Amino acid sequence: MTDLNTLKDKTLEAITAAATLEDLDQVRVSALGKKGELTALMKTMGKMAPEERKEFGQAANLIKDAIATALDSRKATLEEEALAAQLASETIDVTQPARPRKKGSIHPITQVTEEAIAIFGEMGFTVAEGPEIETDKLCFDDLNIPTDHPARQMQDTFYMHGYTGDEGSLVLRTHTSPVQVRTMNSQKPPIRVICPGRVFRSDYDATHTPMFHQIEGLVIDERGTKENGGGRAHMGHLKGVLMDFLKAFFQVDEVKIQLRPSYFPFTEPSAEVDIGYEIVNGELKIGQGDKWMEILGCGMVNSRVLENCGIDPEKYQGFAFGMGVERLSMLKYGMPDLRPYFDSDVRWLDHYAFEPLMIPSMTRGLN
Ligand code: PHE
Repeated sequence: MTDLNTLKDKTLEAITAAATLEDLDQVRVSALGKKGELTALMKTMGKMAPEERKEFGQAANLIKDAIATALDSRKATLEEEALAAQLASETIDVTQPARPRKKGSIHPITQVTEEAIAIFGEMGFTVAEGPEIETDKLCFDDLNIPTDHPARQMQDTFYMHGYTGDEGSLVLRTHTSPVQVRTMNSQKPPIRVICPGRVFRSDYDATHTPMFHQIEGLVIDERGTKENGGGRAHMGHLKGVLMDFLKAFFQVDEVKIQLRPSYFPFTEPSAEVDIGYEIVNGELKIGQGDKWMEILGCGMVNSRVLENCGIDPEKYQGFAFGMGVERLSMLKYGMPDLRPYFDSDVRWLDHYAFEPLMIPSMTRGLN
């Protein structure tokens, strides 16, 4: 009997101590197996007196049941633990951010062009476009820049040598002004268009690339008379349009500009526009301050250009302006060098490009 109780205690202890299902099986075999200790003890019953045998047999069966129950319960616990460990090792952390996917983004040139279109669109301008390969006539002659005129040297033209269209020789357009000519050739005043687009000049350094972008604007309306004063598209309107544009574009309440007399063959008088700025704590602040920076060219459309485009300068007058998109974008978004704009370097784009669905608008914001 004592043997039975000792065996019971020892086995139950071993069951509790078993750390794995294999350990537990060893305990089962060594107690209940064919050659197990309980089995061996039960074999001794044959030699016992009938009374003793009965008592021993009942006790042995109870112990056997107790051991079997303990084995089952420990087995269930170990199986649960094993499952939990396996689940833990195979867990996927769904809260981790997904690996970034390559996605397209909007180039600063496109963004700034869209911003300008949004602003001028609000003022009633529509967008006009034209070809990048342009005739000599539309790019220069009609704009009052004859072949032998020194003004041709102002723009380092790429000539399409050997290509001559029906309307004369071809060039890569050096400005988007030929789109203004095309517009005047095909529309009656009042005209209010902006011409954004790609232009080409043979030039390359930190602030010039052989291909860049411009936005030009053109407004043609009634000429000034005694009745209407200075007319409906005079220099004051030009200044107002430019100031409204610059305020909206640079997102400032006030903007200081100065119109400095200049020369363009297609405008008379002509001016270059400087915008006030200051450097505060190393940061460029546009709109105020005592420093001036040139930002665009403009003027009243030369009456010769109006004539070339079939518009009567006795009846109509207007103004035009032109600016570089890269320059606007560098100033607004603080980019020091122009050349990386066209390198297609994804690191530069990751830093400077814009979210595809953030379409600029005057009501939702420009960026
Ligand atoms: N076309 C001029 C240029 O590219 C810019 C400009 C446009 C100047 C309209 C005045 C008026 O240099």
